[in-house]
Amino acid sequence: MYLKPMRTLFALFLCLFALAAQAQTATAKLPRVVILATGGTIAGTGATSTTTVGYTAATVGVDALIKAVPELQKVAQVSGEQVFQIASENMGNEQWLLLAKRVNALLAKPDVDGIVITHGTDTIEETAYFLNLVVKSRKPVVVVGAMRPSTAISADGPINLYNAVLTAGSQEAVGKGVLVVLNDQINAAREVTKTNTVTTDTFKSPELGMLGYVVGNQPHFYRASTRKHTLETEFDVSNLTALPQVDIAYSYANVGPAAINALVAAGAKGLVHAGVGDGSLPTKVRPALSSARKNGVVIVRSSRVGQGIVARNGEANDDELDFVVSDTLNPQKARILLMLALTKTTSTKDIQRMFSTY
Ligand code: SIN
Repeated sequence: MYLKPMRTLFALFLCLFALAAQAQTATAKLPRVVILATGGTIAGTGATSTTTVGYTAATVGVDALIKAVPELQKVAQVSGEQVFQIASENMGNEQWLLLAKRVNALLAKPDVDGIVITHGTDTIEETAYFLNLVVKSRKPVVVVGAMRPSTAISADGPINLYNAVLTAGSQEAVGKGVLVVLNDQINAAREVTKTNTVTTDTFKSPELGMLGYVVGNQPHFYRASTRKHTLETEFDVSNLTALPQVDIAYSYANVGPAAINALVAAGAKGLVHAGVGDGSLPTKVRPALSSARKNGVVIVRSSRVGQGIVARNGEANDDELDFVVSDTLNPQKARILLMLALTKTTSTKDIQRMFSTY
């Protein structure tokens, strides 16, 4: 007489077991994405929900960031690591080397499909470009930030993080180099730059254009950067514990040589000149740069304009001065390439080749 209810119970148990197994298989099929947290506004908190300036960056830990977006679990098997917790104005070579080594170690594992790095927006483009040159994998690496702290009304961090995880777990992002994802848009590390101090649509790739969008729960790519990156570069940070000192000297009306001379005296091995226009050299600056070069400092002529090529032998005779030109890299990215170049060579011919390649 107990046979029928027992059978029903058994059938119910089988059903539940099958459902659990199905759910487990579905989860196992999701891409495995590691979130490396470094701080920034995405992990920031303000005094009130309307505080969008004057808040404190880098206070929320990686576990809380992941917990705040339960939707992540539906699109990836996500795990988190707190690499450091800083506002990105304090990002330095030491942090870059640490981060790059951790990214390379994780991407070498067969059970990691992609990486998301949460980061302050102020120097996100620099970290992304550094990684673009030293990551040794085709797997996606996506750097993400937010313009509003996590406590703000309409904070952009959660949706940006969700879009970044979607992109890092996608096949479409494989082999595209390091990407920066914010405001539903995907930009290449080499070209992206911050264009507005506070608005959420601040990240642009002026003139050259973004790579695509993240819309409808998936990334859509329309183009790729043609410059070499990641596995195709000659840079290797695995044995590096420091990077050569490279600084930026900015030009403006009435500029003198004081900053250049001070930077050289402070030990710069390379200098990026953020010149006016097409990287022009003001008369009072040229002799200081020329003398620095004669003393072994490598000089890269860049521009403060932010768009366009600095033409070799255009506004200065680079062959005669033995200078390098930055191509389209802005001064802060030219600094990164010059630092890495100096880990390989001091030949200006070779360094110029690198600026035309990466
Ligand atoms: C930072 O860069 O750490 C602060 C600003 C931001 O993340 O938007």
